[in-house]
Amino acid sequence: MIAYKRHFFVCQTHRPDGGEEPSCGARGSAEVYSRLLDALDRRPELAKDVAVTACGCLGMCLDGPMILVYPEGFWYAGVTPDDVPELVEQHLVQGNPVERLRWKGA
Ligand code: FES
Repeated sequence: MIAYKRHFFVCQTHRPDGGEEPSCGARGSAEVYSRLLDALDRRPELAKDVAVTACGCLGMCLDGPMILVYPEGFWYAGVTPDDVPELVEQHLVQGNPVERLRWKGA
């Protein structure tokens, strides 16, 4: 059984721009996901402990891009590609959630 210390689920649902419902994809979640994967590629020593997985809508569409982290059940909201280095170093590597990006609805 594989048991990661931390597993990031990154919403990739994309609804059309200008639609009634917002979406993480329309706000750049693909780039967030891509940068997370790139960061892990550069840190192969993390591969057995952490994972980053694309997922569908997490239900917090107004506040995206959203990331849900297990096992903590920690929610990130409004994540941008520029936030990725901090997320990797602070949370994935050191285990300290980035409070400034915490979803306020949690
Ligand atoms: S579209 Fe990302 S949480 Fe719904």
